[in-house]
Amino acid sequence: MKTLEDLLSEGVSGRRVLVRADLNVPLDGDRITDDGRVRASVPTIKALVGAGARVLVAAHLGRPKGEPDPRFSLAPVAARLGELLGQDVVIGTGTADADGTVVLLENIRFDPRETSKDDAERAALARELAAKADAFVSDGFGVVHRKQASVYDVARELPHYAGGLVLAEVEVLHQLTEDLKRPYVVVLGGAKVSDKLGVIKNLLGKVDRLLVGGGMAYTFLKAQGHEVGRSLLQEDQLDQVRGFLAEAEERGVELVLPVDVLAATGFAADAPHEVVRTDAIPADREGLDIGPETRELFAGKLADARTVFWNGPMGVFEFEAFSGGTRAVAEALVKSDAFTVVGGGDSAAAVRALGLPEDGFSHISTGGGASLEFLEGKELPGVKVLED
Ligand code: 3PG
Repeated sequence: MKTLEDLLSEGVSGRRVLVRADLNVPLDGDRITDDGRVRASVPTIKALVGAGARVLVAAHLGRPKGEPDPRFSLAPVAARLGELLGQDVVIGTGTADADGTVVLLENIRFDPRETSKDDAERAALARELAAKADAFVSDGFGVVHRKQASVYDVARELPHYAGGLVLAEVEVLHQLTEDLKRPYVVVLGGAKVSDKLGVIKNLLGKVDRLLVGGGMAYTFLKAQGHEVGRSLLQEDQLDQVRGFLAEAEERGVELVLPVDVLAATGFAADAPHEVVRTDAIPADREGLDIGPETRELFAGKLADARTVFWNGPMGVFEFEAFSGGTRAVAEALVKSDAFTVVGGGDSAAAVRALGLPEDGFSHISTGGGASLEFLEGKELPGVKVLED
């Protein structure tokens, strides 16, 4: 696989370089609420600009319906990227004439061919993109699990190179699958167990302990026979989850569930709530965070870990009152001497939103879906294509 370093040593001065970045950041109106992915894109773009390349960045934001939609414009991202690079980043359709400039294409998903299932449609867009550049640098790790025109097909049309972010992320993921140090503990949270089925299935054959919190824990608790009140529950996943519980026992994997939760009267930042045991969740309450005893239990299960992967918040961390569980897990990781990886998405945003030191973790991934698919044992098309 050729890398950004190879491209730089070939020389890029005056050359047009297309960079695929993952700039899919959470927005509140046009305010970026977590700019982690924008910051992570800077080193590669800066290196190219510094070497005199004419950089064109392709990226997506959200899931527009294949047509321009101002709510999904990359304009706020262009502004933030410009601030971080210390130079103008304009939204345009091709590279500028001057060396060392950066142009950002408007949301690539405004073109329906980007995400098309039809190979020929994607290839047509990829050829249009390729005509705008002399080389392609793939640096959008968060989107390499998508077989999309600007991620996958364009690499087949241009000399292609793995950017620094993609390389660093892939190296970390390899450390989680090869020669890892044990105990290996995985913490999973987030709303839906259905998003994590593949990864749980695969991890049960690999981990020593699996700690489950967040909304998905209630389907596990129900599968164990507990009533969960009005908490998040995926009834259609109960059989699958019972299977996981049985398999964990068979394989000797410790599957650790919450023993207490903060049960609230409704889904609101100021909802009245109390700590209840998970075998006594009142019918009219919903669990919005793991309770204090569970926080201690999870921290204890993480204390002797030598490798930890964490994906998904333990509760509704966006509400101060229900952020304690996520904070407790994050703090346990910061304290730990283990190789600790935070797997993208909400958990990475939570680390930053809660003001925890980013250097307290071995690695904070920019790719939630991408890192989960890798840990599921799936091939990442946007990485695979760089190998050819
Ligand atoms: C992500 O946020 O996980 C990536 O940017 C990919 O976005 P997608 O799930 O909409 O393809």
